[in-house]
Amino acid sequence: MEDRMLSGEAVPEEVVDETNVRPQTLEDYIGQEQVKDNLKVFIEAAKQRQEPLDHVLLYGPPGLGKTTLSMIIANELNVNLRTTSGPAIERPGDLAAVLTALEPGDVLFIDEIHRLNRNVEEVLYPAMEDFCLDIVVGKGETSHSVRLDLPPFTLVGATTRAGYLSPPLRDRFGVVSRLNYYTHDELAVIVNRTAGVLEAAIEDVASEEIARRSRGTPRIANRLLRRVRDFAQVSNNGEIDHAITKESLTRLQVDDWGLDGVDHQLLRGIIDHFQGGPVGLDTIAAAIGEERHTIEDVYEPYLMQIGFLQRTPRGRMVTNKAYQHLEVPKPDA
Ligand code: ADE
Repeated sequence: MEDRMLSGEAVPEEVVDETNVRPQTLEDYIGQEQVKDNLKVFIEAAKQRQEPLDHVLLYGPPGLGKTTLSMIIANELNVNLRTTSGPAIERPGDLAAVLTALEPGDVLFIDEIHRLNRNVEEVLYPAMEDFCLDIVVGKGETSHSVRLDLPPFTLVGATTRAGYLSPPLRDRFGVVSRLNYYTHDELAVIVNRTAGVLEAAIEDVASEEIARRSRGTPRIANRLLRRVRDFAQVSNNGEIDHAITKESLTRLQVDDWGLDGVDHQLLRGIIDHFQGGPVGLDTIAAAIGEERHTIEDVYEPYLMQIGFLQRTPRGRMVTNKAYQHLEVPKPDA
């Protein structure tokens, strides 16, 4: 059961590689300055008091570094990191197994924490608040509750949507930090750093090009870097210059704003079938054959951030800026 819920299984090569390119300390972590500065203080204070760090909730779009930060928090605290996810913990007993296996001070990372079910959440409340577990023993008339002490620990929860968390769970986090999209400058530094780890030489203009087309997201920047490195290796003697970078990104169907095929389908779908909107999320999801949640969590936030899509009470609308980018004439209202 533990194997299913906790990390430690065999992982594919790119993921192993991913672990190597992840920064290990707050010092090496680029961007999210405010989150980082605050965490630095809270970690230092907890260490001075020899207490566990208060529970931390990290939220924001995928790929911005929530998992990386949880690893860094454990590393900076010099404790073990145990990793699991909301959907992996199906029953209260699953959570009890994870919690009782912790050592004092450990960090427990629960990814997609908004997907924990209610029964499991209820076990989590006393665990977070008082480091104890209330277990029901026996059945029927003889059943009774037994209180079990747990080692003090820090829960780091990650979610793409803080709004999906039930209020009682959200209220039990002492530190709540929102991760924002990265600037192009920050992403260019990340690309250069990753290229260094991968021992790949890259021109500054090339890392800036990748940074501009990575939707503010380090995971995308690092993935594009790997693909560009492949193209450069096979057809450019391994040199990652500006020309091979632009050519590779075009071949990967990543446009000047970093939009990919699904972004285009989404925007074009609203324009072609719904006169640019407003249109409901479920309607557009069905029209382009994408999951509602994928659109909501992955695609929409960035399109809204760059001002290509608007959320109105009557549904989603494509903006003038998006029409211009797609070079589609806007129909008269
Ligand atoms: N790799 C991925 N995200 C990073 C970050 N924020 N800082 C440094 N390297 C990274």
